[in-house]
Amino acid sequence: MWIEIINGPNLHRLGKREPGIYGTVSMDSCLETLHQLYDDRLRLTYFQSNHEGALIDRLYESQDAGVDAFVLNAGAYTHTSLALADALRAITPPTIEVHISNVYQREELRQHSLLSSACQGGIVGFGMDGYRLAIEAILGGASPNR
Ligand code: DQA
Repeated sequence: MWIEIINGPNLHRLGKREPGIYGTVSMDSCLETLHQLYDDRLRLTYFQSNHEGALIDRLYESQDAGVDAFVLNAGAYTHTSLALADALRAITPPTIEVHISNVYQREELRQHSLLSSACQGGIVGFGMDGYRLAIEAILGGASPNR
Protein backbone atom coordinates (compact mmCIF):
# COMPACT_ATOMS: atom_id res chain seq x y z
CA MET A 1 0.00 0.00 0.00
CA TRP A 2 1.14 3.51 -0.84
CA ILE A 3 0.13 6.41 1.41
CA GLU A 4 1.11 10.01 0.74
CA ILE A 5 1.13 12.72 3.39
CA ILE A 6 0.46 16.17 2.00
CA ASN A 7 1.00 19.31 4.05
CA GLY A 8 -0.14 22.76 3.06
CA PRO A 9 1.11 26.27 3.78
CA ASN A 10 3.38 27.09 6.71
CA LEU A 11 3.63 23.46 7.78
CA HIS A 12 7.26 23.30 6.61
CA ARG A 13 7.91 25.36 9.75
CA LEU A 14 6.56 22.80 12.20
CA GLY A 15 8.77 22.61 15.26
CA LYS A 16 9.54 26.33 15.01
CA ARG A 17 6.16 27.79 14.12
CA GLU A 18 3.98 28.82 17.08
CA PRO A 19 5.26 26.00 19.31
CA GLY A 20 2.59 26.76 21.90
CA ILE A 21 0.00 25.62 19.36
CA TYR A 22 1.83 23.14 17.13
CA GLY A 23 4.53 21.81 19.46
CA THR A 24 8.28 21.52 18.98
CA VAL A 25 8.46 18.39 16.82
CA SER A 26 9.56 19.04 13.25
CA MET A 27 7.96 17.34 10.28
CA ASP A 28 11.32 15.72 9.46
CA SER A 29 11.38 14.13 12.89
CA CYS A 30 7.73 13.06 12.58
CA LEU A 31 8.45 11.50 9.18
CA GLU A 32 11.50 9.68 10.55
CA THR A 33 9.31 8.11 13.24
CA LEU A 34 6.67 7.17 10.68
CA HIS A 35 9.26 5.58 8.40
CA GLN A 36 10.61 3.56 11.32
CA LEU A 37 7.10 2.40 12.17
CA TYR A 38 5.79 1.66 8.70
CA ASP A 39 8.58 1.13 6.16
CA ASP A 40 8.22 -2.64 6.33
CA ARG A 41 4.49 -2.41 5.63
CA LEU A 42 3.94 0.46 3.26
CA ARG A 43 5.37 3.02 0.93
CA LEU A 44 5.14 6.42 2.60
CA THR A 45 5.78 9.61 0.65
CA TYR A 46 5.58 13.26 1.63
CA PHE A 47 4.82 16.50 -0.17
CA GLN A 48 4.54 20.02 1.20
CA SER A 49 3.73 23.25 -0.56
CA ASN A 50 2.75 26.76 0.38
CA HIS A 51 0.83 27.04 -2.90
CA GLU A 52 -2.77 26.00 -3.41
CA GLY A 53 -2.35 24.98 -7.06
CA ALA A 54 0.72 22.89 -6.28
CA LEU A 55 -1.27 20.93 -3.70
CA ILE A 56 -4.03 20.32 -6.23
CA ASP A 57 -1.55 19.28 -8.94
CA ARG A 58 0.07 16.86 -6.52
CA LEU A 59 -3.22 15.15 -5.65
CA TYR A 60 -3.85 14.38 -9.32
CA GLU A 61 -0.24 13.42 -10.06
CA SER A 62 -0.02 11.05 -7.12
CA GLN A 63 -3.41 9.55 -7.90
CA ASP A 64 -2.26 8.93 -11.48
CA ALA A 65 0.97 7.41 -10.17
CA GLY A 66 -1.05 4.92 -8.12
CA VAL A 67 -1.24 6.24 -4.57
CA ASP A 68 -3.79 4.34 -2.44
CA ALA A 69 -4.67 7.01 0.13
CA PHE A 70 -3.79 10.54 1.20
CA VAL A 71 -3.25 12.05 4.64
CA LEU A 72 -3.86 15.77 4.17
CA ASN A 73 -3.22 18.72 6.43
CA ALA A 74 -4.11 21.61 4.16
CA GLY A 75 -3.32 24.23 6.81
CA ALA A 76 -5.27 27.44 6.29
CA TYR A 77 -6.51 26.28 2.88
CA THR A 78 -8.77 23.97 4.87
CA HIS A 79 -10.92 26.97 5.65
CA THR A 80 -10.77 28.75 2.32
CA SER A 81 -10.13 26.47 -0.64
CA LEU A 82 -13.13 25.41 -2.66
CA ALA A 83 -10.65 24.42 -5.38
CA LEU A 84 -8.95 21.93 -3.06
CA ALA A 85 -12.33 20.58 -1.97
CA ASP A 86 -13.29 20.09 -5.63
CA ALA A 87 -10.02 18.24 -6.27
CA LEU A 88 -10.64 15.93 -3.31
CA ARG A 89 -14.07 15.14 -4.73
CA ALA A 90 -12.59 14.48 -8.17
CA ILE A 91 -9.97 11.97 -7.09
CA THR A 92 -10.63 8.39 -6.07
CA PRO A 93 -8.09 7.61 -3.31
CA PRO A 94 -9.59 8.19 0.15
CA THR A 95 -8.24 11.17 2.08
CA ILE A 96 -7.92 11.53 5.83
CA GLU A 97 -7.90 15.15 6.99
CA VAL A 98 -5.45 15.95 9.78
CA HIS A 99 -5.16 18.99 12.02
CA ILE A 100 -2.44 19.13 14.63
CA SER A 101 -4.28 21.62 16.80
CA ASN A 102 -7.85 21.27 17.97
CA VAL A 103 -9.34 23.71 15.51
CA TYR A 104 -12.67 23.54 17.35
CA GLN A 105 -11.07 25.25 20.34
CA ARG A 106 -9.67 28.05 18.18
CA GLU A 107 -11.04 31.08 16.34
CA GLU A 108 -14.44 30.62 14.80
CA LEU A 109 -13.13 30.81 11.24
CA ARG A 110 -10.94 27.77 11.91
CA GLN A 111 -13.92 25.76 13.07
CA HIS A 112 -15.21 25.26 9.56
CA SER A 113 -13.51 23.04 7.02
CA LEU A 114 -14.42 23.17 3.36
CA LEU A 115 -12.56 19.88 2.97
CA SER A 116 -14.11 17.63 5.61
CA SER A 117 -17.13 16.67 3.54
CA ALA A 118 -14.82 15.57 0.73
CA CYS A 119 -12.67 13.46 3.06
CA GLN A 120 -13.27 10.03 4.43
CA GLY A 121 -12.63 11.19 7.98
CA GLY A 122 -10.52 13.43 10.11
CA ILE A 123 -8.08 13.45 13.02
CA VAL A 124 -8.07 16.70 14.95
CA GLY A 125 -6.23 17.91 18.02
CA PHE A 126 -3.78 15.08 18.71
CA GLY A 127 -0.66 17.02 17.81
CA MET A 128 1.86 15.48 15.46
CA ASP A 129 0.58 12.04 16.43
CA GLY A 130 -2.39 12.83 14.19
CA TYR A 131 -0.36 11.77 11.16
CA ARG A 132 0.26 8.32 12.67
CA LEU A 133 -3.37 8.02 13.74
CA ALA A 134 -4.48 8.81 10.20
CA ILE A 135 -2.21 6.09 8.82
CA GLU A 136 -3.61 3.68 11.41
CA ALA A 137 -7.13 4.57 10.28
CA ILE A 138 -6.19 3.72 6.71
CA LEU A 139 -4.37 0.51 7.67
CA GLY A 140 -7.27 -0.45 9.89
CA GLY A 141 -9.21 -0.91 6.72
CA ALA A 142 -11.32 2.24 6.67
CA SER A 143 -13.00 1.80 3.33
CA PRO A 144 -13.63 4.47 0.74
CA ASN A 145 -17.29 5.37 1.00
CA ARG A 146 -17.70 7.63 -1.95
C1 DQA B 1 -3.81 23.47 11.10
C2 DQA B 1 -4.96 24.38 11.55
C3 DQA B 1 -5.20 25.49 10.55
O1 DQA B 1 -6.25 26.34 10.99
C4 DQA B 1 -3.95 26.34 10.39
O2 DQA B 1 -4.15 27.32 9.41
C5 DQA B 1 -2.75 25.52 10.10
C6 DQA B 1 -2.55 24.28 10.83
C7 DQA B 1 -3.47 22.40 12.13
O3 DQA B 1 -2.79 21.46 11.77
O4 DQA B 1 -3.85 22.51 13.30
O5 DQA B 1 -1.88 25.92 9.34
O6 DQA B 1 -4.21 22.80 9.92
